Amino acid sequence: MPDSTPPTDFSPDQFRRHGHAVVEWIADYLATIDDYPVLSPVQPGDIREALPARAPEAGEPLDRILADFDQLIVPGITHWNHPSFFAYFAISGSVPGILGEMLAAALNVNGMLWKASPSATELELTTMDWLRQLMGLSDDWFGHINDTASISTLLALAAAREAANLDIRQRGMAGRADLPALRLYTSAQSHSSVEKGALTLGFGQQNVIAIETDRDFRMRADRLAAAIASDRAAGHLPVAAVATIGTTSTTSIDPLRPIAELCQREGVWLHVDGAYGGAAAILPELRERLFDGIELADSLVVNPHKWLFTPVDISALYTRHPDILKRAFSLVPEYLVTAEQDEVVNLMDYGVQLGRRFRALKLWMVMRSFGAEGLRERLRHHIALAQRFAAWVDESAAWQRMAPTPLSTVCFRAAPPSLSAEAQDALNEQIMAAVNASGEAFLSHTKLNDRFTLRLAIGNIRTEARHVARAWALLNEALERLSVGALER
Ligand SMILES: Cc1ncc(COP(=O)(O)O)c(C=O)c1O
Repeated sequence: MPDSTPPTDFSPDQFRRHGHAVVEWIADYLATIDDYPVLSPVQPGDIREALPARAPEAGEPLDRILADFDQLIVPGITHWNHPSFFAYFAISGSVPGILGEMLAAALNVNGMLWKASPSATELELTTMDWLRQLMGLSDDWFGHINDTASISTLLALAAAREAANLDIRQRGMAGRADLPALRLYTSAQSHSSVEKGALTLGFGQQNVIAIETDRDFRMRADRLAAAIASDRAAGHLPVAAVATIGTTSTTSIDPLRPIAELCQREGVWLHVDGAYGGAAAILPELRERLFDGIELADSLVVNPHKWLFTPVDISALYTRHPDILKRAFSLVPEYLVTAEQDEVVNLMDYGVQLGRRFRALKLWMVMRSFGAEGLRERLRHHIALAQRFAAWVDESAAWQRMAPTPLSTVCFRAAPPSLSAEAQDALNEQIMAAVNASGEAFLSHTKLNDRFTLRLAIGNIRTEARHVARAWALLNEALERLSVGALER
């Protein structure tokens, strides 16, 4: 006989009580986010040391778990939702996005098949269409959602390989004398996910060709043409090129039209990495600059979790050849056969993963809550803040801008003329460490032309002019304090 209290979930009333507590916590968090240190000050191992080495044998009260969340977990959080988070690419868990995540977790659907939750598939296709239209793309493009740009790019490269009709899906790549080296081209500034995708697919690292960039860090179309020509002469097979709209270090924008025209002439699949910068194509005044020639590209990735105020993770992969993507990946075992499979989109057919989260829900809530105009307004605000910061850098004799600022990320460094380039590198590293240790702002760095470069990336929905001004003040205070030491050495 089953016992009288079967081991099931918490009661809805318990959920209500703790759910209210969690929502209160989130509301307080967002209200006081300015007071948290942006970069977590903990040392490696601190968090694990504070946690029990084994899972509890008996269940514990949720009140106690939430108290431990506050005391043990939050100190080890670097606050990506902080308005003074300026590192990497600043992102946002906006209020509608947070609510969308809560609802998605409550529904807990797995949208692998249309039948598995029709709304999951149809809302995904709808939000992808909405975003496509906002970016000014024609209805030639089919979009679907992945976790990250790294995976979207991996899938795009798999489609590129499939498009080359080498029967790799069936025969693989190993032990084939008939298969030339498959070549992939991308700029020296492109994101490491391109190379990782190529590694995963077995292209081989040596077949990822880094194309030189111009002085503004944009891929040179003439160098791409030369690389393709010399590869053909050597008997290699050019398969794909990846252009970036908003590179990771400087947000440089590769010249899409000449690259796309070249790829079309050469029969090379062009994937466009707009993980960060693609979002700015929703601004009509920037679209031409970002997307001129996009109609000739074969695939495009844009991450709503970067600059469209939707919580991590959600990446949109668009392609003009969904049939090829599907050819690369579709594999339907008997237990996933459905009666309507020929009349619906089953999203499992377009990638590696079977199970898929209901990510479209949060994007839908974000797009509806802010509206297209609200999204545009927020991007314009970030771009304006970055342009103001760039102007401060340009007007100051002590600082130097290291790259153009086409979007909302500024690359710069302190450059006291009395110091050698190497001493300036060390000084900037110290300035960054000092600003980050203050807890008031968090910046990251890159290297440009081999020189240590600071990056201030503006993208959090809560960032205001005062946060950017404070970062500038912190940088100048650190420069003043540290350059005395640097000059004395
Ligand atoms: C241009 C670009 N592409 C791809 C990526 C990888 O994004 P994800 O973390 O979604 O894989 C990044 C990450 O910052 C990026 O800047």
